[in-house]
Amino acid sequence: MEKIYLDNGATSFPKPKEVADAVYEYMTSIGANINRGGYQVAYDLEGTVFETREMLTELFGASDCKNVVFTKNVTESLNVVLKGFLKPGDHILCSSMEHNAVMRPLVQLSKKGSEFDRIPGTETGELVLDAVESMIKENTVAIVMTHASNLVGTVNPIKEVGRICQKHGLKFIVDSAQSAGIIPINMKEMHIDALCFTGHKSLLGPQGIGGFILDEGMIDLIDPLLSGGTGSISHTEEIPDFMPDRFEPGTMNIPGIVGLHAGLKWIKEKGLDAIREHELGLTKRFLDGILPFEDAGKLKIIGLKGIEGRTGVVSIQTLGVDCADAAFRLDFDYGIETRVGLHCAPNAHKTLGTYPTGTIRFSFGNFNTEADVDAAITALNEICG
Ligand code: ALA
Repeated sequence: MEKIYLDNGATSFPKPKEVADAVYEYMTSIGANINRGGYQVAYDLEGTVFETREMLTELFGASDCKNVVFTKNVTESLNVVLKGFLKPGDHILCSSMEHNAVMRPLVQLSKKGSEFDRIPGTETGELVLDAVESMIKENTVAIVMTHASNLVGTVNPIKEVGRICQKHGLKFIVDSAQSAGIIPINMKEMHIDALCFTGHKSLLGPQGIGGFILDEGMIDLIDPLLSGGTGSISHTEEIPDFMPDRFEPGTMNIPGIVGLHAGLKWIKEKGLDAIREHELGLTKRFLDGILPFEDAGKLKIIGLKGIEGRTGVVSIQTLGVDCADAAFRLDFDYGIETRVGLHCAPNAHKTLGTYPTGTIRFSFGNFNTEADVDAAITALNEICG
């Protein structure tokens, strides 16, 4: 049975051929480390890494490519930023739709004396923007927020929240795990001080590469979580005070960066508008296809039912058939791969009223087709009776 991958919210698949080719070429013909080797291949590779920083700077409207830091994923990025920035006594706001990549660090930090509050969300997962200003306290230092929900694809009003942060002198930290490579992001225009990203979702790189980009004013406010060799100022045992070395100890994931470089090139050639149009086209087809099943009481669509203000991530609950059983049958009988459960976002489910049952999540990507969507609709119809 042919498999239909509808779990792009977890990681994009397949990757463009160019990404796989670039990683293969690196592994078989290049292979060097950077910032260490004194030979031409290593210097050339440094050029590729530098160019990747430049491409990310351009894509995200950042101010300086030296402030692009590579990590292994967005979770590590959020940990480095939040744990390096928040001090005991500080207060931070987040949305009620956060992934545990944000919530677990915040809960961990709250045990060491900082505090957080969640800005309320509607039952479709939209941020109650009007509530934000009244929740700012004297000790509020920042807002951290996902750009788009990993559960229902709802897009947060980042630009408006950024404006509020600027007005009140708060730092703005954004988790772009589900939006980077689909939705335009401009750090300057959106007043983002720290943008955390992952390379393996819609940026189309391999797993194990991610990063964060800092605005100049944020750099000295973050104590580095990790330290070690950087290949620079090797005469001292102090952490470099310059970027990106301040936050990049140890050997980097060069195969990951090389793959990300190819993914970013692919995105630039295709264009964000075309990427978004494709994914939302499939999302609309899917939503339109399953709406009659909702009307017939076979399933419930969680979150927004149209394509305004969302990404290509759709959650449903099957009624009359357990969600886990339905997801199992989707895979086993139809070859349709989805994610079922709580999606590492328990409070998002509480906001949407789907806790603790969870949902089945369908997430569409660049290489999905209308035939994939139609197969999922047909399968759901048959499974739900
Ligand atoms: N955070 C990823 C997801 O939502 C892994 O599936």
